[in-house]
Amino acid sequence: MAVKNELETRDWYKTAVFYQIWVRSFADGNGDGIGDLYGVYDKLEYLKSLGITAIWFNPLYPSPNADFGYDISDYCNIHPDYGDLEQFKKVLNKAHELGMKVIMDLVINHTSDEHPWFIESRKGGDDNPYKDYYIWRDEPNNWDSIFEGKAWEYDSVRGQYYLHLFAKKQPDLNMDNPKVREEVKNILRFWLSMGVDGFREDVINFISKREGLPNGIGFLPIIGSMHHYKDGPHIHEYLAEFRAVCDEYGAVQIGEGPMTTVNSAMKYLSGDTKSMDMMFSFDHMMADCLFTEYFHRPFSLIRLKTALSRWQYKLADKAWNSLYLENHDHPRVISRYGSEKYHRESGTALATAYMFLRGTPFIYQGQEIGMTNIKLSSIDQYVDVSSKNNYIRYHVKDPVEARLHRIHISSRDSARTPMQWDASENAGFTTGKPWFYVNPNYKAINVAAEEEDENSILNYYRKCVELRKENQVLLFGDYKEYDHKNPFVYMYERRKGKTSYFVICSFTGEPITYKLPRGFGGHTAKIMLSNYPKKRVPGEIRRMPEDGLKLAPYEALVVKMKRV
Ligand code: GLC
Ligand code: CA
Repeated sequence: MAVKNELETRDWYKTAVFYQIWVRSFADGNGDGIGDLYGVYDKLEYLKSLGITAIWFNPLYPSPNADFGYDISDYCNIHPDYGDLEQFKKVLNKAHELGMKVIMDLVINHTSDEHPWFIESRKGGDDNPYKDYYIWRDEPNNWDSIFEGKAWEYDSVRGQYYLHLFAKKQPDLNMDNPKVREEVKNILRFWLSMGVDGFREDVINFISKREGLPNGIGFLPIIGSMHHYKDGPHIHEYLAEFRAVCDEYGAVQIGEGPMTTVNSAMKYLSGDTKSMDMMFSFDHMMADCLFTEYFHRPFSLIRLKTALSRWQYKLADKAWNSLYLENHDHPRVISRYGSEKYHRESGTALATAYMFLRGTPFIYQGQEIGMTNIKLSSIDQYVDVSSKNNYIRYHVKDPVEARLHRIHISSRDSARTPMQWDASENAGFTTGKPWFYVNPNYKAINVAAEEEDENSILNYYRKCVELRKENQVLLFGDYKEYDHKNPFVYMYERRKGKTSYFVICSFTGEPITYKLPRGFGGHTAKIMLSNYPKKRVPGEIRRMPEDGLKLAPYEALVVKMKRV
């Protein structure tokens, strides 16, 4: 395919609404119990009906699934569980016909230990071209891996240790080797020349390690060693090489940046070192924990607001935010930041809170119907490598019940259960035996039921997407937060010229009277969106009360006001 012309270049991402597909649990098209690209093909109209304009696929490549696709054994193919390249092209073409872009997951910090490069590299030998594709040492340093024990594993074939920042079956590539970077460029070209529109780039801020791999310090070797590979010494040089390839195709690049601060993110997003169009920050995912699964703490709205505003202010008109509340690495947000008891109310309030920030919203499969965390009764039922290892790594002296509770509220598996399509057996996900447990709440929480209900979370997401789409104020207006110290209400303004939209969201299950910040009382405002539509009718013009706005549990509204 020819290089895309200027007009088609990557600015589309700013007005896009992304949907994230973790294919294994999305829709099973051939009845073997595993979600696949046949299932995806049949659901593309559903995505279209949501107003989605771009899809991010988690890894679809052949993989032994030690980390469900993030351990790749062939970068230029499709896992047989999900289909084949022909089926992928059908999905890609149909998505394009329906007006949706498609981006792939690029995982280049590591491969699978079953990748042919690693199999060759293990053999060592001076004239072996793959010898330095990975990071080998005679002696390990003290780093811990993020998923599984120490970061080094001894290989008896080669007689050396290899580095794995994640699971043992995910050896880190040696990005300092120019041949490895050429391989990456070939992978980019392979997918871009097929017509793919860009990449979400996995742990991209980890790919350049500090020379000498010094020991980490601090009470937790994971955290204490991270600065030796996070935003490493050559990161921007390497990314510039990859950017040049993406530039040829006008491809969008979105970097996943675990633990990236907003200041270091700016280096990826702007100026001479710009290599990414957006970054996924983890800042706002820490409103209830320091690092998912390790140190859980109660949700704090103020922490959430602090993180969101930090990125909104810093990026402002210099860079572009990615907006998300859920993905395949985090538990379901209603179960974390909302309330399962006020399911519909908190699900819609959370949607309101993030969909109108400045940036591009991402919706993770099932988020749009308010799926919640699954509760499994034994650690043996969990399949995620990090959950299984965290269970035996942290808080091991706690009673089993407490340890399981921790996994339930924090495991990645909690958000990887099959998509709930309808109330039929297995939630309509498969006609076979589902590969993983279906959340028993599927009879109440499912797409079909929510399609029928005008006030469902699903239909509310549609309204959010519709309101945001083509709205210059909500797309490009300035952001300002109000009343930061209020622990129950998140209020912000989006403003362009004299027009302002105010987003007001309650984060409590108690009814409250919210004293509006100075200057609001007495002014008239038009209700643009409300999750209590009988109480506040969209389209209505109302006077903002001077004595306080009465907010129902998790009430959220968007109002439009003229500024003087
Ligand atoms: C990223 C992915 C996660 C994966 C890890 C290692 O954080 O989102 O799912 O386990 O990288 O590849
Ligand atoms: Ca299947």
